[in-house]
Amino acid sequence: MKFETLAIHAGDRPDAAYGAISVPIYQTSTFVFEDVDKTRGYDYSRTANPTRKVLEDTIARLEGGRVGFAFATGMAAETTIIHLLKAGDHVISADDVYGGTYRLFQRVMRDFGLEFTFLRMDSRQRIEEAIKSNTKMLWLETPSNPLLNITDIEMAVDIAKKHNLLTVIDNTFATPYFLRPIEFGVDLVVHSTTKYLNGHCDVVGGAVVTTTDELTQRVQFLLNTMGTCAAPFDCWLVLRGIETLAVRMKQHEQSAIAVANYLNGHPAVKRVYYPGLSSHPGHEIAKRQMKGFGGVVSFELKKGVRAVNSFLRGVKVFSLAESLGGAASLAEHPATMSHASMPKEHREKVGITEELIRLSVGLENIDDLIDDLRQALEPN
Ligand SMILES: Cc1ncc(COP(=O)(O)O)c(C=O)c1O
Repeated sequence: MKFETLAIHAGDRPDAAYGAISVPIYQTSTFVFEDVDKTRGYDYSRTANPTRKVLEDTIARLEGGRVGFAFATGMAAETTIIHLLKAGDHVISADDVYGGTYRLFQRVMRDFGLEFTFLRMDSRQRIEEAIKSNTKMLWLETPSNPLLNITDIEMAVDIAKKHNLLTVIDNTFATPYFLRPIEFGVDLVVHSTTKYLNGHCDVVGGAVVTTTDELTQRVQFLLNTMGTCAAPFDCWLVLRGIETLAVRMKQHEQSAIAVANYLNGHPAVKRVYYPGLSSHPGHEIAKRQMKGFGGVVSFELKKGVRAVNSFLRGVKVFSLAESLGGAASLAEHPATMSHASMPKEHREKVGITEELIRLSVGLENIDDLIDDLRQALEPN
């Protein structure tokens, strides 16, 4: 079955009990045993839940992986899989990952004895030079948040395999519709399902897809032990969102290209970050490894923070809010919002400037979106 069909039919549906076409929400903590030591397949909803299972199976099929796991948030998913490591292990991470990922690594996991090196992942030599005897994991985010940097996954996996490192990709921005990292040999895919997979800004959630039985067992153990799983109703919302993922992603991308081109030609704009532009340094790699470039566009304004504030106050169709991937277009200021948890020096080093604005291009009519950007960029 093709992607669009799997998005609607993967997993155990329609439901076996009454044939409901919509996956039932098994809003239950526990399940009655048939007999001593004999369940009907489920015993307790932290361990597994039938609604969650349909979502997990669907995401695993869409990513082309072994087994999926649904978590309470994207950060719960990340927190769980970073616990595959132990004190003394070293992780090489992309340097402009989501601010919350950076905070988890630097402000929490370091205190538990993990070591992190943050790098721009665009050079084989730079990555190889950072590998130490205790390096165990490569953590990638491509396209990255908020700079839309592109990592050559084939190159990263090649390095990882030579040095016996586990590769993790945060595939939140591209979604499996545009990028299937497991086809390149990545070991684990992680998602904030809060974003495009759900697509309607009405839930927070996360997911992990494994590629081997060993990883599956270890992630299942950690999820159950740490209790980081998603709730049934939240799983249902994400499942409903996924049914329309393909059509939404096509439209997000089409509008994002129009927005990127518009901003690129605007005199108030210093620089546009969008992997679909031929001027983007990762454009050729993105073209090779992705089916599309996604719906997030970042840009810098020439006239500094005052111009940024005036733009963010001026938008009317775009809403000033964190997050991305929903039907409603959003605009945000990474330095003070999504990436405020990154220290200023690190932000400046990686290029997340005070002038940077990130747009999540939604599903409104493109003429209304461009008109909104125009009036916010050119106030009288
Ligand atoms: C790329 C990326 N990964 C992970 C996360 C964390 O996800 P959540 O907010 O669902 O915990 C986010 C949130 O913005 C994100 O953008």
